[in-house]
Amino acid sequence: MRKVQSFSFSNLDEVQTGQLITRSTSDVHMTQMIVMMSLRILTRAPIWVLGATVMLLVTSTRLALMMAAFVPVIALSVLWFARTARPMFTWVQQRLDRLNTVLQENLAGVRIVKAFVREAHEIERFGDANRQLMEKTIRIMRLVAILLPTMTLILNLGIIGAIWLGGGATLAGEMTVGQVVASINYLTFALFPLMMLAAMLSPIAAADASAARILEVLETEPSVTAPAVAAPLPDVQGRIAFERVGFTYEGDGGEPVLRDVSFVAEAGETIASLGATGSGKSTLIHLIPRFYDVTEGRITLDGTDIRELPLSVLRSSIGIALQEAVLFGGTVRENVAYGRPDASLDEIRDACRTAQALNFVESLPEGVDTVIGQRGVTLSGGQRQRLAIARALLTKPKILILDDSTSAVDIETEVRLQDALDALLADAAHTTTRFIVAQRISTVLLADMILVLDRGNVVSYGTHSELLEKSAIYREIYVSQLGGMT
Ligand SMILES: Nc1ncnc2c1ncn2[C@@H]1O[C@H](COP(=O)(O)OP(=O)(O)OP(=O)(O)O)[C@@H](O)[C@H]1O
Ligand SMILES: [Mg+2]
Repeated sequence: MRKVQSFSFSNLDEVQTGQLITRSTSDVHMTQMIVMMSLRILTRAPIWVLGATVMLLVTSTRLALMMAAFVPVIALSVLWFARTARPMFTWVQQRLDRLNTVLQENLAGVRIVKAFVREAHEIERFGDANRQLMEKTIRIMRLVAILLPTMTLILNLGIIGAIWLGGGATLAGEMTVGQVVASINYLTFALFPLMMLAAMLSPIAAADASAARILEVLETEPSVTAPAVAAPLPDVQGRIAFERVGFTYEGDGGEPVLRDVSFVAEAGETIASLGATGSGKSTLIHLIPRFYDVTEGRITLDGTDIRELPLSVLRSSIGIALQEAVLFGGTVRENVAYGRPDASLDEIRDACRTAQALNFVESLPEGVDTVIGQRGVTLSGGQRQRLAIARALLTKPKILILDDSTSAVDIETEVRLQDALDALLADAAHTTTRFIVAQRISTVLLADMILVLDRGNVVSYGTHSELLEKSAIYREIYVSQLGGMT
């Protein structure tokens, strides 16, 4: 859990949720079981074998030698089993991964499944993954089913041998009946732990496979790491500068998503970015809290490279509302106070008021204490967005980032939100630098600087009036959206 929390966005892009679930439940369980079993059996077994062998040697050297003949047989079968079973357990866990991934995706998207009448297809997909898991499990269970009887057979052959050899010796007067019976007991005690070991082989092999899978997660290096020696950051002002920033997503064919982006956002300024879908607006702002690290150039906060700042300091001075407004199951209050659990009710209400969410929150059956469904499903898209904005505002960030956060809010509400934000930020004792991503040009008109993005390049930047003069793309967007107005 702690490791996964340390993952960066690009680590998370690479792993499947289903895999992480299998690894943190089933794999952990397997490993845990073997640790528990080992504590008792594995520590006791060698002592048993040693003690029984010594006693057997003392009682009858002949029978002890016979037992020695069985040891390599047992050792070899155990070795064979371990080598055959180990990869099989890895396959089983991989099938379980796939099953969990299908299940997880299916549950998360169950509404889409229904909307497109694909229930049968999804059941088939699940059934398929399920069948594959079953086939692998059956194969391994067959192996286990052979192993134990084989071990019992070997033990019983040992007893037969002891009775045969010991019986002959007794008749010849070389051994007493008591010695033979005692030897058989010692023999059983010496071979029994080996059988137990054999019985444990399958959980051991399973745990070995599982442990390797857990280690894989534990050994993943977070691609964004805190600096070894963090630069001191006395008081964040909020001046953000992009210096020839380039960015390429890992495994994305090496095509850069951002190229040579340079601009300066002075503390307290509002920077808006505008551009077609897929032009890199979200990518640009994800670089500021180091969700991803730049692949070229650098970003500075108050003149210090953000990679040299403690991650927690950097991120806690940023309030962000991501493009996809994700809430957690819980009350409205818990969600808004997520970044600052100690916030007072008044502060929470103020944040909601600025985000234009207070009206609808108060109309909910229990106000701020209303429980909303998981991922906020019981709210409308625009309501979720406004709560996400309130959540970002409540931390009183030095840098506020809103990624298309009002796309599902009507224009009238959006204008009120802008005004409330302006009033709040102008009024605040400390300045706040604002980054807004927007589709609507009306949202960005008053920004101090507008970045016009086109396929990862900042093709132009400036204020609204400057851009109207110098940027054809900007003029085009402007005319297409507000053509009728002046
Ligand atoms: N996690 C990711 N891994 C790989 N490529 C990505 C990832 N996220 C985005 N991209 C790619 O990067 C490009 C820019 O995406 P980005 O999300 O920044 O666009 P955007 O301008 O925010 O678009 P929109 O207006 O639709 O939100 C797109 O071509 C997209 O396919
Ligand atoms: Mg985006």
